[in-house]
Amino acid sequence: MTPIILDMDPGIDDAVALSIALTNPELDIKLLTSVAGNVSVDKTTTNLLKLTTFFNQTQVPVARGAAAPLKKAFVDASYIHGASGMPGYEFPTITTQALTTDAVSAMAKVLSEAPEPMTIVATGSYTNIALLIQNHPEVISQIKEFVLMGGSLSGGNVSSVAEFNLFTDPDAADVVFKSGVPIVMIGLDVTLKALLSLETIDAVADLGEAGNMLHKLMTAYGDSEPGGKPMHDVNTICYLLLPEFYTTKDYWVDVITDGPASGATIADTQNRWSNGKINAKVAVDIDAQAFEKWFLAQIPTMNHYCEGAF
Ligand code: RIB
Ligand code: CA
Repeated sequence: MTPIILDMDPGIDDAVALSIALTNPELDIKLLTSVAGNVSVDKTTTNLLKLTTFFNQTQVPVARGAAAPLKKAFVDASYIHGASGMPGYEFPTITTQALTTDAVSAMAKVLSEAPEPMTIVATGSYTNIALLIQNHPEVISQIKEFVLMGGSLSGGNVSSVAEFNLFTDPDAADVVFKSGVPIVMIGLDVTLKALLSLETIDAVADLGEAGNMLHKLMTAYGDSEPGGKPMHDVNTICYLLLPEFYTTKDYWVDVITDGPASGATIADTQNRWSNGKINAKVAVDIDAQAFEKWFLAQIPTMNHYCEGAF
Protein backbone atom coordinates (compact mmCIF):
# COMPACT_ATOMS: atom_id res chain seq x y z
CA MET A 1 0.00 0.00 0.00
CA THR A 2 1.18 3.52 -0.81
CA PRO A 3 0.71 5.99 2.07
CA ILE A 4 -0.44 9.38 0.79
CA ILE A 5 -1.72 12.76 1.93
CA LEU A 6 -4.48 14.17 -0.28
CA ASP A 7 -4.97 17.97 -0.34
CA MET A 8 -8.16 18.86 -2.21
CA ASP A 9 -10.81 21.46 -2.99
CA PRO A 10 -13.94 19.34 -3.71
CA GLY A 11 -15.28 20.31 -6.24
CA ILE A 12 -16.70 17.64 -8.49
CA ASP A 13 -13.58 16.23 -10.13
CA ASP A 14 -11.87 16.19 -6.73
CA ALA A 15 -14.85 14.22 -5.44
CA VAL A 16 -14.53 11.70 -8.26
CA ALA A 17 -10.80 11.37 -7.59
CA LEU A 18 -11.37 10.91 -3.85
CA SER A 19 -14.08 8.31 -4.47
CA ILE A 20 -11.49 6.21 -6.29
CA ALA A 21 -8.70 6.84 -3.76
CA LEU A 22 -10.88 6.03 -0.73
CA THR A 23 -11.92 2.68 -2.22
CA ASN A 24 -8.64 1.49 -3.75
CA PRO A 25 -6.78 -1.02 -1.53
CA GLU A 26 -3.42 0.02 -3.04
CA LEU A 27 -3.70 3.49 -1.49
CA ASP A 28 -3.44 4.26 2.23
CA ILE A 29 -4.75 7.79 2.79
CA LYS A 30 -3.10 8.99 6.01
CA LEU A 31 -4.69 12.46 5.91
CA LEU A 32 -7.19 14.46 3.89
CA THR A 33 -6.81 18.24 3.91
CA SER A 34 -9.14 20.88 2.49
CA VAL A 35 -8.27 24.16 0.82
CA ALA A 36 -10.29 27.07 -0.57
CA GLY A 37 -10.55 26.75 -4.33
CA ASN A 38 -13.56 25.53 -6.24
CA VAL A 39 -15.66 26.68 -3.29
CA SER A 40 -14.90 28.05 0.19
CA VAL A 41 -12.80 26.02 2.62
CA ASP A 42 -15.86 25.53 4.86
CA LYS A 43 -17.58 23.82 1.92
CA THR A 44 -14.54 21.85 0.74
CA THR A 45 -14.06 20.58 4.30
CA THR A 46 -17.72 19.57 4.55
CA ASN A 47 -17.46 17.85 1.17
CA LEU A 48 -14.47 15.76 2.29
CA LEU A 49 -16.49 14.67 5.35
CA LYS A 50 -19.50 13.86 3.15
CA LEU A 51 -17.35 11.51 1.08
CA THR A 52 -15.59 9.76 3.98
CA THR A 53 -19.06 9.21 5.46
CA PHE A 54 -20.54 8.00 2.16
CA PHE A 55 -17.78 5.39 1.73
CA ASN A 56 -17.68 4.38 5.44
CA GLN A 57 -14.09 5.65 5.64
CA THR A 58 -14.48 8.08 8.56
CA GLN A 59 -11.29 6.67 10.09
CA VAL A 60 -9.44 8.80 7.53
CA PRO A 61 -8.73 12.11 9.31
CA VAL A 62 -9.79 15.38 7.68
CA ALA A 63 -8.12 18.69 8.53
CA ARG A 64 -9.30 22.15 7.48
CA GLY A 65 -6.83 24.20 5.48
CA ALA A 66 -6.32 27.67 4.07
CA ALA A 67 -9.32 29.93 3.53
CA ALA A 68 -7.52 32.19 1.07
CA PRO A 69 -4.43 32.32 -1.15
CA LEU A 70 -1.09 33.55 0.25
CA LYS A 71 -1.46 37.02 -1.29
CA LYS A 72 -4.21 37.14 -3.91
CA ALA A 73 -7.88 37.63 -3.08
CA PHE A 74 -9.87 34.38 -3.10
CA VAL A 75 -12.12 33.81 -6.11
CA ASP A 76 -14.00 30.49 -6.31
CA ALA A 77 -15.14 28.35 -9.23
CA SER A 78 -18.72 27.80 -8.09
CA TYR A 79 -19.78 28.64 -11.64
CA ILE A 80 -18.31 25.24 -12.58
CA HIS A 81 -18.85 23.20 -9.40
CA GLY A 82 -22.10 24.67 -8.08
CA ALA A 83 -22.68 26.60 -4.85
CA SER A 84 -22.04 23.59 -2.61
CA GLY A 85 -19.16 22.20 -4.65
CA MET A 86 -20.89 18.81 -4.89
CA PRO A 87 -24.40 19.48 -6.24
CA GLY A 88 -27.03 17.07 -7.47
CA TYR A 89 -26.89 14.32 -4.84
CA GLU A 90 -28.35 14.15 -1.30
CA PHE A 91 -25.47 12.75 0.78
CA PRO A 92 -26.14 10.88 4.04
CA THR A 93 -25.75 12.89 7.24
CA ILE A 94 -22.09 13.37 8.11
CA THR A 95 -21.10 11.09 10.99
CA THR A 96 -17.69 12.57 11.76
CA GLN A 97 -15.89 15.89 12.27
CA ALA A 98 -12.73 17.53 11.03
CA LEU A 99 -9.68 17.53 13.32
CA THR A 100 -9.23 20.55 15.58
CA THR A 101 -5.70 20.72 14.18
CA ASP A 102 -5.29 22.85 11.06
CA ALA A 103 -4.27 21.18 7.80
CA VAL A 104 -0.66 22.36 7.75
CA SER A 105 0.02 21.28 11.34
CA ALA A 106 -1.67 17.95 10.64
CA MET A 107 0.43 17.43 7.52
CA ALA A 108 3.63 18.21 9.46
CA LYS A 109 2.67 15.72 12.20
CA VAL A 110 1.85 12.92 9.76
CA LEU A 111 5.09 13.50 7.85
CA SER A 112 7.25 13.68 11.00
CA GLU A 113 5.80 10.34 12.20
CA ALA A 114 6.04 8.59 8.81
CA PRO A 115 8.56 5.71 8.65
CA GLU A 116 9.35 6.64 5.01
CA PRO A 117 9.05 9.83 2.93
CA MET A 118 5.45 10.21 1.68
CA THR A 119 3.70 11.35 -1.48
CA ILE A 120 1.48 14.42 -1.21
CA VAL A 121 -1.20 14.76 -3.89
CA ALA A 122 -2.65 18.25 -4.37
CA THR A 123 -5.71 18.83 -6.54
CA GLY A 124 -6.62 22.35 -5.45
CA SER A 125 -4.55 25.50 -5.09
CA TYR A 126 -1.18 24.84 -3.42
CA THR A 127 -1.67 27.20 -0.49
CA ASN A 128 -1.50 24.47 2.18
CA ILE A 129 1.60 22.80 0.78
CA ALA A 130 3.34 26.16 0.32
CA LEU A 131 2.64 26.99 3.98
CA LEU A 132 3.95 23.54 4.94
CA ILE A 133 7.22 24.28 3.11
CA GLN A 134 7.51 27.77 4.62
CA ASN A 135 6.55 26.90 8.21
CA HIS A 136 7.85 23.34 8.59
CA PRO A 137 11.21 23.06 6.78
CA GLU A 138 12.06 20.20 9.16
CA VAL A 139 9.64 17.85 7.37
CA ILE A 140 10.54 18.66 3.75
CA SER A 141 12.90 15.68 3.63
CA GLN A 142 9.89 13.53 4.57
CA ILE A 143 8.07 14.47 1.35
CA LYS A 144 8.89 11.90 -1.35
CA GLU A 145 7.18 13.91 -4.12
CA PHE A 146 4.29 16.22 -4.93
CA VAL A 147 1.82 14.85 -7.47
CA LEU A 148 0.04 18.01 -8.56
CA MET A 149 -3.03 18.58 -10.69
CA GLY A 150 -2.32 21.95 -12.20
CA GLY A 151 -0.46 24.04 -14.69
CA SER A 152 -0.26 23.77 -18.45
CA LEU A 153 2.30 24.08 -21.22
CA SER A 154 -0.47 24.37 -23.80
CA GLY A 155 -2.78 27.15 -22.68
CA GLY A 156 -4.97 27.87 -19.69
CA ASN A 157 -8.58 27.33 -18.64
CA VAL A 158 -9.01 30.47 -16.52
CA SER A 159 -6.95 32.80 -18.73
CA SER A 160 -5.31 32.15 -22.07
CA VAL A 161 -2.23 30.86 -20.19
CA ALA A 162 -3.20 30.00 -16.59
CA GLU A 163 -4.83 26.87 -15.17
CA PHE A 164 -7.26 27.38 -12.25
CA ASN A 165 -5.25 25.87 -9.37
CA LEU A 166 -2.21 28.03 -10.13
CA PHE A 167 -4.26 31.08 -11.13
CA THR A 168 -5.96 30.90 -7.72
CA ASP A 169 -2.69 31.06 -5.80
CA PRO A 170 0.34 31.69 -8.07
CA ASP A 171 2.52 32.70 -5.11
CA ALA A 172 1.95 29.34 -3.43
CA ALA A 173 2.70 27.54 -6.67
CA ASP A 174 5.95 29.52 -7.00
CA VAL A 175 7.01 28.37 -3.51
CA VAL A 176 6.21 24.75 -4.39
CA PHE A 177 8.03 24.71 -7.74
CA LYS A 178 11.11 26.28 -6.09
CA SER A 179 11.00 23.97 -3.03
CA GLY A 180 13.33 21.30 -4.37
CA VAL A 181 10.72 18.61 -3.66
CA PRO A 182 10.33 16.34 -6.73
CA ILE A 183 7.16 17.28 -8.64
CA VAL A 184 4.94 15.37 -11.03
CA MET A 185 2.92 18.01 -12.86
CA ILE A 186 -0.39 16.64 -14.15
CA GLY A 187 -1.63 19.61 -16.10
CA LEU A 188 -4.17 20.48 -18.74
CA ASP A 189 -1.79 19.03 -21.34
CA VAL A 190 -3.13 15.60 -20.38
CA THR A 191 -6.31 16.27 -18.39
CA LEU A 192 -8.01 17.88 -21.40
CA LYS A 193 -7.23 14.75 -23.41
CA ALA A 194 -8.67 12.36 -20.80
CA LEU A 195 -12.32 13.28 -21.28
CA LEU A 196 -15.20 11.10 -20.08
CA SER A 197 -17.75 10.91 -22.87
CA LEU A 198 -21.36 11.76 -22.04
CA GLU A 199 -22.19 8.12 -22.85
CA THR A 200 -19.68 6.96 -20.22
CA ILE A 201 -21.06 9.43 -17.67
CA ASP A 202 -24.59 8.18 -18.37
CA ALA A 203 -23.47 4.54 -18.11
CA VAL A 204 -22.16 5.22 -14.59
CA ALA A 205 -25.73 5.86 -13.36
CA ASP A 206 -26.52 2.14 -13.47
CA LEU A 207 -23.45 1.06 -11.49
CA GLY A 208 -24.85 0.86 -7.96
CA GLU A 209 -25.26 3.69 -5.42
CA ALA A 210 -21.70 4.87 -5.93
CA GLY A 211 -22.36 5.10 -9.64
CA ASN A 212 -25.64 6.90 -9.01
CA MET A 213 -23.87 9.46 -6.80
CA LEU A 214 -21.02 10.02 -9.27
CA HIS A 215 -23.46 10.29 -12.18
CA LYS A 216 -25.43 13.02 -10.40
CA LEU A 217 -22.24 14.96 -9.60
CA MET A 218 -20.71 14.58 -13.05
CA THR A 219 -23.96 15.59 -14.72
CA ALA A 220 -23.97 18.80 -12.65
CA TYR A 221 -20.28 19.45 -13.44
CA GLY A 222 -19.95 22.56 -15.57
CA ASP A 223 -16.52 21.84 -17.09
CA SER A 224 -17.26 20.49 -20.54
CA GLU A 225 -15.35 20.10 -23.79
CA PRO A 226 -16.40 18.89 -27.24
CA GLY A 227 -16.34 15.11 -26.73
CA GLY A 228 -16.89 14.97 -23.00
CA LYS A 229 -15.96 16.24 -19.53
CA PRO A 230 -12.38 16.49 -18.16
CA MET A 231 -11.99 14.82 -14.75
CA HIS A 232 -8.78 16.73 -14.11
CA ASP A 233 -8.07 15.55 -10.56
CA VAL A 234 -8.79 11.88 -11.28
CA ASN A 235 -5.57 11.87 -13.31
CA THR A 236 -3.43 12.31 -10.17
CA ILE A 237 -4.85 9.09 -8.72
CA CYS A 238 -4.60 7.28 -12.06
CA TYR A 239 -0.96 8.37 -12.33
CA LEU A 240 -0.18 7.04 -8.84
CA LEU A 241 -1.70 3.66 -9.71
CA LEU A 242 -0.81 3.40 -13.43
CA PRO A 243 1.99 5.82 -14.34
CA GLU A 244 2.51 3.91 -17.59
CA PHE A 245 -0.67 5.56 -18.94
CA TYR A 246 1.24 8.86 -19.00
CA THR A 247 4.13 10.20 -21.08
CA THR A 248 6.27 12.61 -19.07
CA LYS A 249 9.16 14.96 -19.83
CA ASP A 250 11.61 16.42 -17.31
CA TYR A 251 11.75 20.22 -17.33
CA TRP A 252 12.56 23.23 -15.22
CA VAL A 253 9.19 24.91 -14.76
CA ASP A 254 8.68 28.47 -13.55
CA VAL A 255 5.44 30.01 -12.30
CA ILE A 256 4.47 33.52 -13.34
CA THR A 257 3.17 35.31 -10.22
CA ASP A 258 1.97 38.68 -11.48
CA GLY A 259 0.72 40.60 -14.47
CA PRO A 260 -1.55 39.35 -17.25
CA ALA A 261 0.15 35.93 -17.31
CA SER A 262 -0.22 35.39 -13.55
CA GLY A 263 -0.59 31.69 -12.78
CA ALA A 264 1.04 30.52 -16.00
CA THR A 265 3.61 27.71 -15.94
CA ILE A 266 6.51 28.07 -18.37
CA ALA A 267 8.91 25.19 -19.05
CA ASP A 268 12.49 25.85 -20.14
CA THR A 269 12.17 23.41 -23.05
CA GLN A 270 15.15 24.96 -24.86
CA ASN A 271 17.37 25.11 -21.73
CA ARG A 272 17.60 28.89 -22.09
CA TRP A 273 17.76 29.88 -18.41
CA SER A 274 17.74 26.80 -16.17
CA ASN A 275 21.29 25.54 -16.94
CA GLY A 276 19.97 21.99 -17.19
CA LYS A 277 18.26 22.05 -13.79
CA ILE A 278 15.03 20.06 -13.51
CA ASN A 279 12.23 20.59 -10.96
CA ALA A 280 9.30 18.72 -12.52
CA LYS A 281 8.29 15.62 -14.40
CA VAL A 282 5.60 17.09 -16.68
CA ALA A 283 2.86 14.84 -18.09
CA VAL A 284 2.63 15.64 -21.80
CA ASP A 285 0.48 12.79 -23.11
CA ILE A 286 -1.95 10.10 -21.92
CA ASP A 287 -3.55 6.90 -23.16
CA ALA A 288 -7.05 8.40 -23.03
CA GLN A 289 -8.87 5.18 -23.96
CA ALA A 290 -7.07 3.25 -21.23
CA PHE A 291 -7.94 6.04 -18.74
CA GLU A 292 -11.67 5.92 -19.54
CA LYS A 293 -11.75 2.09 -19.36
CA TRP A 294 -9.84 2.16 -16.06
CA PHE A 295 -12.23 4.78 -14.64
CA LEU A 296 -15.32 2.67 -15.33
CA ALA A 297 -13.65 -0.39 -13.79
CA GLN A 298 -13.19 1.44 -10.43
CA ILE A 299 -16.89 1.89 -9.73
CA PRO A 300 -18.05 -1.67 -8.87
CA THR A 301 -15.46 -1.82 -6.06
CA MET A 302 -16.76 1.47 -4.64
CA ASN A 303 -20.14 -0.11 -4.00
CA HIS A 304 -18.63 -2.60 -1.54
CA TYR A 305 -17.56 0.38 0.59
CA CYS A 306 -20.74 2.47 0.59
CA GLU A 307 -23.11 -0.34 1.60
CA GLY A 308 -24.99 0.52 4.77
CA ALA A 309 -24.23 4.22 4.56
CA PHE A 310 -27.89 4.86 3.75
O1 RIB B 1 -8.14 23.43 -13.63
C1 RIB B 1 -8.75 22.30 -13.07
C2 RIB B 1 -8.54 22.26 -11.59
O2 RIB B 1 -9.17 23.37 -10.97
C3 RIB B 1 -9.17 21.02 -10.94
O3 RIB B 1 -8.43 20.66 -9.81
C4 RIB B 1 -10.52 21.50 -10.53
O4 RIB B 1 -11.06 20.77 -9.43
C5 RIB B 1 -10.21 22.91 -10.09
O5 RIB B 1 -9.72 22.85 -8.77
CA1 CA C 1 -9.55 20.46 -7.66
